[in-house]
Amino acid sequence: MPVSREDGLDVSTVKKETLKGDLSPGLVAQIISRNSDTGGGHMVVHVPAGWSNPKGYASAAQDIYVLEGEMTCGGEHMVAGCYSFIPDGVAYGPISSPKGCRMIVFYGAPFEFKRSDANKPGAKVERLRLNEKTWKTDWEDPMKKMVEKTTWINPVTGQPGRPAGCFVKVLRWDKDPEEQIALVSQAGGFIDPGTEVHPHNECLYLIQGDCYIGYTYDTKAKDQKKVDITLTKDHYLSRPPGIYHGPVTTKGGVFWITYMSDGYHGIFNDVAEWPSMVERYYGGQAKYHETRV
Ligand SMILES: [Fe+2]
Repeated sequence: MPVSREDGLDVSTVKKETLKGDLSPGLVAQIISRNSDTGGGHMVVHVPAGWSNPKGYASAAQDIYVLEGEMTCGGEHMVAGCYSFIPDGVAYGPISSPKGCRMIVFYGAPFEFKRSDANKPGAKVERLRLNEKTWKTDWEDPMKKMVEKTTWINPVTGQPGRPAGCFVKVLRWDKDPEEQIALVSQAGGFIDPGTEVHPHNECLYLIQGDCYIGYTYDTKAKDQKKVDITLTKDHYLSRPPGIYHGPVTTKGGVFWITYMSDGYHGIFNDVAEWPSMVERYYGGQAKYHETRV
């Protein structure tokens, strides 16, 4: 279950490497987290202009979201904002990308590609979802679509909820293994005033916008408390269970793709100093530093 921890990875700093299997030269990936239990992980895949590859299948299930550019997979033309779920062993392609593209991929096991016109025997073809155009899906209240449990209390209604200004599109929520993939948008001026902690893995890729996270720490590891983390486009967070994080705000709005190894369970903890922290960020004074937990 545990993913490797990243508290604000600038993805541009991650080295590019080739992937295993029968892939044409030129395709490279940045591995941004690994899951020690499944052998899977998250990666950003760079498809160079003019790249093509014959049909085949991967050893790992893949959630694929196109970040920029375009490609054709079989008869499907995919552009930024298109989402696919390809189960392990299901053949897809051929792939071509005249102009190149960049994708975020959540993979569920060690990745290797094998050329084949047929599916691997036993592959769960019925789970395939190819080229869903996410812009066609309406935004939803996370309390209706995503949240299984929250201890945050709405000060107006007195009921459990989430701070106003957050919207979700759940792309996939499967039970075996339990995984929830979603697009999350927080409006400019959104504030989550406390820290939260989850009993599940939570990973977020920042597609567009800005975000401030006041504190990030792990009480069990007795490590440093990271303060004033600021994030922009193409930053990534990966949290195994038990990492406290927050308060959270965004000046101009932020758009994420998120991975959870469960439905959302958020345990909220008050942070009395959240107004001064938010003001520090809005005033351009937030400066990353570390203190003892
Ligand atoms: Fe969280």
